[in-house]
Amino acid sequence: MALERTLSIIKPDATRRNLTGAVNAKLEGAGLRIVAQRRVRLTTAQAEAFYAVHRERPFFRDLVTFMVSGPVVAQVLEGENAVARNREVMGATNPANAAPGTIRKEFAESIEANSVHGSDSAENAAIEIAFFFSGLDIVG
Ligand code: CMP
Repeated sequence: MALERTLSIIKPDATRRNLTGAVNAKLEGAGLRIVAQRRVRLTTAQAEAFYAVHRERPFFRDLVTFMVSGPVVAQVLEGENAVARNREVMGATNPANAAPGTIRKEFAESIEANSVHGSDSAENAAIEIAFFFSGLDIVG
């Protein structure tokens, strides 16, 4: 398996509780390297654009409101099989279903305030990385 990159977001529920370092320790402990990182406060338009794929879902409006409720930390993670590895260490979307030791099991507050986002495929990772970062920002 080749070296891969994926987009991670530490969400407002986690930044609010000062968990950026704790989440990063989990990511690095899983063998992922943080090769770009930026703390930003998304605008409503930016959050709507990032989650455009979910715009018909019943939770879309609440999700956007939550994602602009505080700062987020966008990150590029690099490693072998990084997309799948990140999804493994994040745990299930709903923390009630997340495996022990995962980020969401340990830190998430609810299915919405679930502490982290991670790209679901290599194709979406490329799109999501480009949403937050230019090539010059990524230092492997
Ligand atoms: P994320 O991986 O960022 O992708 C979409 C987000 O929508 C998801 O994590 C959750 O934070 C949020 N969400 C809220 N309700 C739901 C739901 N019922 N199913 C899936 N995602 C949800």
